[in-house]
Amino acid sequence: MALTDTFSNLSILIRWLHVIAGITWIGMLYFFNFVNVPLQGALDDAAKKAVNPNLMPRALWWFRWGAMITFLAGVALFTLTYAYTPGQGFGMNQNFKDAMTGHLTSRAHWILMGMVFGTIMWFNVWGIIWPAQKKLLSGKAGDQAAALRKRALFTSRVNTFLSGPMLFGMLSPAHYGASNGVTILTAILISLATIWLAIKTSFNVGKSV
Ligand code: HEM
Repeated sequence: MALTDTFSNLSILIRWLHVIAGITWIGMLYFFNFVNVPLQGALDDAAKKAVNPNLMPRALWWFRWGAMITFLAGVALFTLTYAYTPGQGFGMNQNFKDAMTGHLTSRAHWILMGMVFGTIMWFNVWGIIWPAQKKLLSGKAGDQAAALRKRALFTSRVNTFLSGPMLFGMLSPAHYGASNGVTILTAILISLATIWLAIKTSFNVGKSV
């Protein structure tokens, strides 16, 4: 592939943008879940008032815009990888559908799983977590504050769990061949157990050096 191959160059640029934005988003998600939740439990009200108005708007900015760029670049990457053929134009290609059998490929199974989980996570950020946090940070939450905090935390936990299987769905299409009920279920179970362990660990680590 030469430097003049526009399709390959565009694909790698969008792939890179997708992954660097994904790191930013999921990095912030893990910061909130593995560091900030235990931290908030250790702060008194005065400390929270000093820290949170400085910390949260910054962290939430990278979090939500990371999610948006990941999602948009992901949709573009899906189009280029599965719904476009250089020289022929748009339409589902052989990465998505086996030309002989007409069945979805293994690659398609994995990326569809990843994209369903990723899209739910993106919706949770923009539709639930950010609106709740925005109200809390603006000081307009009033007596809704406790309920909003609970909803944001629950949804953030759901996203943390979903991030495990989602990432299997992102990595497997290009780096793992098989897809069937057993491989997909195993990937889901391994990743959910890993996230569960990380959340449990987060309450016990780093209290001292
Ligand atoms: C939000 C919805 C998302 C959509 C629609 C989406 C879409 C895609 C697509 C179409 C691919 C290409 C798969 C292939 O090569 O066959 C991909 C790969 C990938 N995505 Fe996502 N993605 C999403 C979220 C995420 C998130 C949150 C991350 C977190 C880091 C992520 C990380 C990756 C990685 C690491 C790859 C593999 C790159 C490679 O192996 O070349 N994606 N994604």
